[in-house]
Amino acid sequence: MKLVKHIANLGYGSRRQVEWMFREGRITDAAGEVLYADDKVAHEAIRVDGEPLDPAPGLLLMLHKPVGYTCSTRDAGRLVYDLLPPRFRARSPIVSPVGRLDRDTSGLLLMTDDGALLHRIISPKSSLPKVYEATLAADLRGDEAELFASGALVLESEKTPLLPAQLEALSPRQARLTLHEGRYHQVRRMFAAVGNHVVALHRSRIGGLELGGLEAGKWRLLEADDLAHLFASA
Ligand code: URA
Repeated sequence: MKLVKHIANLGYGSRRQVEWMFREGRITDAAGEVLYADDKVAHEAIRVDGEPLDPAPGLLLMLHKPVGYTCSTRDAGRLVYDLLPPRFRARSPIVSPVGRLDRDTSGLLLMTDDGALLHRIISPKSSLPKVYEATLAADLRGDEAELFASGALVLESEKTPLLPAQLEALSPRQARLTLHEGRYHQVRRMFAAVGNHVVALHRSRIGGLELGGLEAGKWRLLEADDLAHLFASA
């Protein structure tokens, strides 16, 4: 791919703006030599204003999503993109959430610009477990684990029963729930189906990947060994 297109696709500006950046000598190699738009240079060797380029296409990151942020590119309120470098929203292809978390849900959110990887992660074939911790408005009744594991629960306005899910009671109003699919507002609707209400929801794990010590609002790029962890539990 031509350098101008490559750098424009990373969100540094329109092609015209990137052409200007070349003319202004702002794009150099690692030794500070000015590059020209028709040079052939590896991604890793390029500097803009002396800084290495953002990650090459094919990035995967984890974000510790705080409550109050929406997984959307446009919404009146706070967006998960506000927590990432502004260029990530301007990339082509854009860095998109891998599945969604509700505005009021916190926890592990994956984001990628790699469509094939995104589909592999959310595909029913991969069936990656997703682990949630829910705080409930009322005490657990005691029969929820059996019902959720039955594979027979049909949510309101749906026809297909849910796949078996595993519930572990952590306290009378705290539960850990492991899902193997991702339907709309699934955790909240499952507890609504047993007459309860989720007052707080946090996703702690996808596949074999956990947030580790990542604080709310922070993100980090994932490497090959993280990807191995992600798919390890499948
Ligand atoms: N289930 C929900 O109800 N909300 C989420 O954000 C994720 C799963």
